Amino acid sequence: MKFEKRILCIGAGFVGGPTAAMIACKCPRYRVTVVDTNKEKIAQWNSAALPVYEPGLDEIVKEARGRNLFFDTDIPGGIRENDVIFVCVNTPTKSFGAGAGMAADLQYWEKTARQILEHARSPKIVVEKSTFPVKTALAMERILNSRNDGIRFDVLSNPEFLAEGTAVRDMEVPDRVLIGSRDSAEGYRARDVLVEIYANWVPREKILTSNIWSSELAKLAANLFLAQRVSTINAVSAVCEKTEADVTEVARIVGMDGRIGPRFLNASIGFGGSCFKKDILNLVYLCRHEGLAEVADYFEAVVRINEYQKERFVLNMLEAMFNTLAGKRVCLFGFAFKANTSDTRESPAIYVAQRLLEEKAEVVVTDPRALENAKTDLKGLAGKVSYVKDPYKAASGCQAIAVMTEWDLYRGLDYGRIFKRMVKPAFIFDGRNILDHELCHEVGFNVYPVGKPGLTHFA
Ligand code: NAD
Ligand code: UGA
Repeated sequence: MKFEKRILCIGAGFVGGPTAAMIACKCPRYRVTVVDTNKEKIAQWNSAALPVYEPGLDEIVKEARGRNLFFDTDIPGGIRENDVIFVCVNTPTKSFGAGAGMAADLQYWEKTARQILEHARSPKIVVEKSTFPVKTALAMERILNSRNDGIRFDVLSNPEFLAEGTAVRDMEVPDRVLIGSRDSAEGYRARDVLVEIYANWVPREKILTSNIWSSELAKLAANLFLAQRVSTINAVSAVCEKTEADVTEVARIVGMDGRIGPRFLNASIGFGGSCFKKDILNLVYLCRHEGLAEVADYFEAVVRINEYQKERFVLNMLEAMFNTLAGKRVCLFGFAFKANTSDTRESPAIYVAQRLLEEKAEVVVTDPRALENAKTDLKGLAGKVSYVKDPYKAASGCQAIAVMTEWDLYRGLDYGRIFKRMVKPAFIFDGRNILDHELCHEVGFNVYPVGKPGLTHFA
């Protein structure tokens, strides 16, 4: 079959795999290939057990795989044979050298750019799908145009706004698709090619085009705004705990203001995930580099409050449990950084588990999807950790439950039955405010939500 367009995604991770699957599903006339240096991951994408758990993803992969969606390890071949190349590689925080712990580690995209340059034999549109520091497109262009052999490369910025757990829906019905291009005839021509691809399923009015630097910055700014809301409500939750105000009520009242809106106002144990922290720190690094110290401090406070919220949660546990956790079994309900994903990157549960172990508690982890990742995250830590899939068995013999992830599963459990099999006095620390606190209290638990008064049986 002759395909109308040939598209390549470099990087078969949380973004590359689902992006490719969505394009292939919505555009059967295009051939979409995903390549990765990680052979094992590619084998998983070609198997029944995909490397990423996302509601609805299995279905779209099954529909398109082998028809117009292909997962492969041949990166040079992929570059040669495709005209539009989405760069979906990881951009983690740098862990070494200048900017360690703050700047983005750029080695993966730079390697990709060099591979594209080496293997391209015809013009390419190179699309920044990963989240990059502002002005990465300029560096990318400089590398791609360093060989003066007449091959044309156009670089576009097309950041991804999907959230894990809702990735398929977010891609299928996005709030907006953003395409940043150079303000030149060639830039507009490349941009229009990408607009045409998305227009296969996204209404035109939702496809925004902009200057390429605005596009790069808007992605970072969007994550900053979302994370800032979480840190703000979490800071408010700390005030609630000192004043007997209830953070759920405060959030509801504040969120009903049309200018503020109700979403992203759930107080929690803190935000996790691979992107909020890294993207904010990347902006902080840029600001410091550009001499914007006050702006950098303001942005960085969002991350600092998040660290504080996690530590505050652990200290609240310690205080409620008579200032010692040594030898006590504590069950973590959930380990994923949010519900409906197996992803545990930067999950607050990692921090809590580490701190509990430092306090010499025994940790039991339960999670419907993330136990394998939890094992990797906690490997090598001193102390006793066990992993139990069934939450009833996991909590049995424990003195406390700490809710880390807002899985629906935990709302519907029989807490009376759980209470009976726990050591008394038994505690629940609801880091997500998802349980029926009155009911848990009635069956015997001492209940400590986030940002509201605790319900205890102590005089
Ligand atoms: P990921 O780690 O899951 O996947 C990245 C993949 O790229 C890995 O499989 C890695 O092996 C591969 N890779 C690295 N260098 C390569 C190379 N030179 N050639 C081929 N493959 C290579 O990362 P992710 O979560 O998919 O994130 C990718 C980017 O998208 C990041 O910049 C991230 O900030 C951004 N983003 C992520 C999300 C999300 O929800 N995860 C959402 C929006 C944006
Ligand atoms: C986030 C953004 O929502 C996406 O738009 C963006 O594309 C993505 O980062 C990215 O760049 O990687 P994601 O991290 O997958 O998506 O998930 P979110 O739903 O944003 O949740 C992030 C964290 O904040 C989770 O730990 C979640 O539990 C926490 N959160 C969220 C709260 O604690 N309270 C809230 O009210 C909302």
